[in-house]
Amino acid sequence: MFKASHVCGLVLVIFLLALGAQAFAGHGAEKPTKKGILLVAFGTTVPEARAALDNIDTKAKARFPGLEVRWAYSSRIVRQKLAGQGLQFDSPAMALARMMDDGFTHVAVQSLQTIPGEEFHGLQKTVAAFSGLPKGMDRVTLGLPLLAEPADVEACAKAVMASLPPDRKKNEAVILMGHGTHHPANIYYPGLQYSLSRLDPLVLVGTVEGTPSLDDVRTALKARKVKKAWLQPLMAVSGDHAMNDMAGEEDDSWKSVLTADGVACEPVLRGTADIPAFVDIWLDHLQAAVERLN
Ligand code: CO
Repeated sequence: MFKASHVCGLVLVIFLLALGAQAFAGHGAEKPTKKGILLVAFGTTVPEARAALDNIDTKAKARFPGLEVRWAYSSRIVRQKLAGQGLQFDSPAMALARMMDDGFTHVAVQSLQTIPGEEFHGLQKTVAAFSGLPKGMDRVTLGLPLLAEPADVEACAKAVMASLPPDRKKNEAVILMGHGTHHPANIYYPGLQYSLSRLDPLVLVGTVEGTPSLDDVRTALKARKVKKAWLQPLMAVSGDHAMNDMAGEEDDSWKSVLTADGVACEPVLRGTADIPAFVDIWLDHLQAAVERLN
């Protein structure tokens, strides 16, 4: 004998079959969700410096299991030099186009820049261009660089303090060499200096191309009668700037200039991408970008 519940069940099965058939019919087909991560660095031509980026790669894969992690270098000059050595790296636009073609529906892009300057704003435009393209990806989000929100400045100052050279004595200075820029985002360097001064007055920030300058650092060292300084890059990798402008043997390197001032220098060739406390800040920003994919 037929029971009412059986009839209802049968109707439901037919209804679901009809729905299924519709979903698989040609143009109506829904593409499956595929989420991924794109890490974007300026790039480096120094082979040893790439280990710092490999470190971020390993940490990102461990923190976001199940999400494919891809890379792009934003510097055309770096990509061209590497291509000459047989190493192919995509630009952010090329990497996103490839991910689009490979069926990714949601991509979190993470900037491995230090400040939201020109490089970051360029990346922001690229990411915007890939959002909402016909037959493209459903959503592309962008994670902020190391120093972006006010809390990042405090977190970065703490990361500096947590990664001071182990042999540094209290009366020795630690000088962080940032890149610096003409872009308004240069303000993060004096901002970080402000936070650091409250934690340790002998931890100084200088930049290659912006403010504070090397001369600002020299003035501070003289005023505090510093005899020894540790030099370390405030850049993701210890690349060309760190090896030449900071620790190089030429007369105008920071090491040479400060040594001539009577300050003994001890360079530490380690990029921030190699230091856990800094990597954590970048990965927290990536976490926020991954969460915004939903
Ligand atoms: Co530069």
